[in-house]
Amino acid sequence: MEGVALGRQLFYDKALSLDRTVACASCHLPNHAFTDTLVYSRGVNGTLGSRNAMPVFNLLWANRFFWDGRSPNLRDQVVQPVQDPLEMHLPLEEALSRLRGDAAYRERFGKAFGDETVNVERFQKALEQFLLSMTSWRSKFDKARMGQATLSPAEQRGFDLFMREFSAPGTGRPTGADCFHCHGGALFTNRLFENNGLDSVLQPGFQVVTGLPGDRGKFKVPSLRNVGLTAPYMHDGRLATLEEVIDHYDHGVVQSSTLNANLRVQTGGLRLSAQDKSDLIAFLHTLTDSTLASNPAYAEP
Ligand code: HEC
Ligand code: HEC
Repeated sequence: MEGVALGRQLFYDKALSLDRTVACASCHLPNHAFTDTLVYSRGVNGTLGSRNAMPVFNLLWANRFFWDGRSPNLRDQVVQPVQDPLEMHLPLEEALSRLRGDAAYRERFGKAFGDETVNVERFQKALEQFLLSMTSWRSKFDKARMGQATLSPAEQRGFDLFMREFSAPGTGRPTGADCFHCHGGALFTNRLFENNGLDSVLQPGFQVVTGLPGDRGKFKVPSLRNVGLTAPYMHDGRLATLEEVIDHYDHGVVQSSTLNANLRVQTGGLRLSAQDKSDLIAFLHTLTDSTLASNPAYAEP
């Protein structure tokens, strides 16, 4: 508990940035499921980053971190934004000495870890504990699953489309939007890295981790929980709205060597009707958990 409380204090503390203007929470805002509404995040001195901020909740169930998966665990992850010149741009030792110079922090480290020593390992553990405490399970979709809410016909139809496989015209089978292969399960992600057809010239993506050419252009499959709050979308924020996202999957998927096999066979696109698209979006909005932003346990202390 004391570790979580310390981690929360650190998450909201601007003293962890070079000019004391940027906290973790500057880019991970509670009202937007802990993202920042920008295409690219801005760090100290307004420095423009190169990626779209990711939501931070339900991370207990994630196995690698960042869009390209370059960080293997949260303890490794939490020290990176502090030092990143595009984000908080503060040498880690300087961050720790600022904390050591603050009696209130020394006391908090003492409560959490038994003595007042402030070191990297404890800093990592405290932030990790706070991040792991952030969970989101109270969306309309969850309530419907527990019998405490009912999906509207449009929302239910959107869910059915989401969960149904694509079938080419002429097969006689009902066709679907085929989202579940990558965004299935309770977290609405398969927890893998995939190429969802954004580019023909591939960026490295997950290849930075594995070194394999077959992983080029693959990025972390994001959870779709709270996706109604996290615009803009994709690792580079290129899509402004959920309408644009659906249009991408409907007719914008670009072929390339590592394109996911399920998308590869959708030649000619998903061919969704206007009704299908709006029902899919209605379903996606049922994944919004409004208690995340209002949860006092995650708010600025
Ligand atoms: C300047 C904006 C900014 C600041 C400050 C910032 N982040 Fe982030 N955060 C991002 C961006 C952008 C990404 C995605 C970066 C990437 O993939 O290269 C990200 C990714 C993450 C992830 C990965 C989530 C996942 O699902 O893989 C975690 C965890 C995270 N940040 C936690 C933190 C913590 C903890 C701090 C403070 C120590 C922090 N962030 C500070 C913008 C920021
Ligand atoms: C082949 C796997 C795959 C399939 C199938 C797939 N997605 Fe995705 N989805 C991804 C990946 C990977 C990303 C992130 C890509 C990136 O940023 O480079 C993503 C991103 C998204 C995002 C943006 C989330 C964010 O936080 O930025 C939304 C929304 C989304 N997908 C919805 C859908 C819907 C709806 C369907 C079905 C029509 C679908 N996806 C089908 C893999 C897939």
